[in-house]
This record gives sequence, structure tokens and C-alpha cells, in this order.
Amino acid sequence: MNSPGVAGAEVQKLSGTQKGAGGRLTVAEPYLIQQKWDAYNQEQHAVWAELVQRRMPQLREHAAEEYLNGFEQIGLKEDSIPNLAEVNRRLSPRTGWNATPVSGFLPPDSFFEMLGARQFPTTTYIRSRESMEYTPEPDIFHDVFGHVPMHAHPVFADFLQHYGRVCAGLMDDKEKLEKMGRLFWFTVEFGVIRQKGKVKLYGSGLISSHGEGTHVIEGRPEIRNFNLDQVMNQQFLVSEEQKVLYAVESFDQIYEAAQEAEKRLG
Ligand SMILES: [Fe+2]
Repeated sequence: MNSPGVAGAEVQKLSGTQKGAGGRLTVAEPYLIQQKWDAYNQEQHAVWAELVQRRMPQLREHAAEEYLNGFEQIGLKEDSIPNLAEVNRRLSPRTGWNATPVSGFLPPDSFFEMLGARQFPTTTYIRSRESMEYTPEPDIFHDVFGHVPMHAHPVFADFLQHYGRVCAGLMDDKEKLEKMGRLFWFTVEFGVIRQKGKVKLYGSGLISSHGEGTHVIEGRPEIRNFNLDQVMNQQFLVSEEQKVLYAVESFDQIYEAAQEAEKRLG
């Protein structure tokens, strides 16, 4: 998800015509920035490299194949922070999605507007070496390494846009939005999928965190079959390792879940 309020790399506001792909945002417009890729220093690239190199051995074995394919397709590199313009040149022709740089925390209406426009709010800040395992605010490692590869998958791409549109229509109903928030948490953030008889990771919180990923691989959370009713009523704590996760059999299942959620709540 997007990050509240931190911008490590120097950022600069965009003027009207430079907003990039999409360009139809209204409520989210004040949050759009430009990634100043040249402003990252060697230490920041080294932090990215260390984070990626730490995660990849586990992910090559335990990540969903769609995640690993997406990683290759969007051209992420192991040794340097991604240049979002280059990522988007590869991603956008595939699914219409862009990783769109934002200044920090987005209010819900802006966040959902961006998802509905296939623009993923992406922070440009990278964590410091003092918080390699955990950072309270998402950073570019969580947002790009954790989230963006899945946006190259056509069904996941459609699901995420639809999710944003449904939520944008529920802005006045806190209770329904909370149910939709749980759907996001147990798919986009902490989703797992069964592939070839094994539980594989695709949620960004599991992909980007060595501790959370290891927790699942070691079999500690209870893995239930995905069920929309249960998911929409499942409490969770952001600050603790997850006790229950929901496994899908295919990504069609989460696409259908978003359609079903719209029928029930919309
Ligand atoms: Fe996230």
C-alpha cells in the first residue's frame, strides 16, 4: 500500500501536463510527484541490493510463479533502486498499470481513485540500514518489489482496478469499507496461493518481509481455503505476525471475489 508522509529521495511536484500515463486523476492529483532517480546515493542503492538479495533465494522457491514472472517482465534489478519510468515502459503495455510516484500518505478516496485508474501509488523513499527488516511506513522496496510485479499479471491487474472502483463507491460507508479493507489485506498484502501442492506467496507483505515470509514457509499461520465471507469478517493486527491466512487456487478466485463483494456491498 502507499506510504504515509515520508520522502527520502528528493522529490519535485509535477506540473499539469507531466503527470504521465492516465492523467485523469482529480482527488489524487495533489499527491503526485516525480521520482528523482539521480538523487539516490550509493548507500541507498546498496540497501535495495541487500534487501533484494536477502529475499530472492526464498522467493525463487516459495513465491507464486506469477510474481517471479512479473519480476522479470518489469525488469527489476537486483543491484539498483528501480527507475519507475523504466518499470512503466515495460509494465504499462502489458496491463495498463503504472507505478505512479506519490509524496506519501494518501487519503482513502485518492488511493482508490488511483487504483481505479490503474495507477499504483508508489513511494520513492527507501528505508535506512537501521530498519532493514521492518519499516512502519511502506517504502519503495515494499511498494515496488512487494507489489508491482503482480500488476503484470492480467487477472490480478483487473482485480486490483475493480477493487479500487468498488471501494471508491463506498466512501460513505465505514463498515463496508472495513470489510473491503480485509479483502485487500488477505489478498494484496498477505495473499497465498496453492500451486503444485504447495502454499506459495504473492501478497506484498509476505514478499517484501523476510520475517513474514519465513513465518509462512515454516508453517506457523493456519492456512484456510479462501472464503469471501470469512475474509470480510476476519480481524487482523497490522503489528503482529499473521495467525490466519487464506489460500486461493487461482487468481480468478480473487477477481470473482471482488465482483461478488460489489454485488453484496455496492
Ligand atoms: Fe502494501
